[in-house]
Amino acid sequence: MPDYKIAPSILSANFARLGEEVDNVLAAGADWVHFDVMDNHYVPNLTIGPMVCKALRKHGVEAPIDVHLMVEPVDDMIRMFADAGASYITFHPEASKHVDRSLQLIQSLGCKAGLVFNPATGLDTAKYVLDKLDMILLMSVNPGFGGQKFIPATLDKLKQARKLIDDSGRDIRLEIDGGVTRDNIQEIAKAGADSFVAGSAIFNADDYAEVISAMRSELAQ
Ligand code: DX5
Ligand code: ZN
Repeated sequence: MPDYKIAPSILSANFARLGEEVDNVLAAGADWVHFDVMDNHYVPNLTIGPMVCKALRKHGVEAPIDVHLMVEPVDDMIRMFADAGASYITFHPEASKHVDRSLQLIQSLGCKAGLVFNPATGLDTAKYVLDKLDMILLMSVNPGFGGQKFIPATLDKLKQARKLIDDSGRDIRLEIDGGVTRDNIQEIAKAGADSFVAGSAIFNADDYAEVISAMRSELAQ
């Protein structure tokens, strides 16, 4: 069985008590913290920045923080999030004029680097930077909001991304983001994903541990 990772998106957490929410979801069995950064420019919503990431580290969060940049441009935010304790930093290729350089910047700052592909964006760019990727993240909703429905065409794209990664022989994680639930996680894993972002499916539930363990048992089948 692949080394599956479950990454709750704090976009759906209660921001009025974020530290406690992150502690609770990690205690409930989550592997990573997925941290959605939106700038009301690249996407039509505005969320949280590096100060909040730094505050979570100061609060004592030791788990990997998976920073998903939905901002344009990206390089200044890459520097600030690396300084704030990010583990992974991913960005959308159309948000950087120099994708290769931005990936190098992430890795030079000691973080793991990834590219994010929107539902209607092809994977072509990834082919030319495979040696600089630690993660490929496929969006299965249009970025900007939690609680949307999984776009089924992403399943075929996951298979293409899985083949690209396997053919490269490189250690690159394949993450999926948007509309992941206990009901579709198994099908998504079968299409090739090994890392799963889930926001509303986890944070809208009363019992985080129950959802996360239901997801893990789906993955174990
Ligand atoms: C959307 C974000 C997602 C979102 C996922 O732009 O990147 O991480 O929070 O939320 P759900 O799981 O509710 O679709
Ligand atoms: Zn995200």
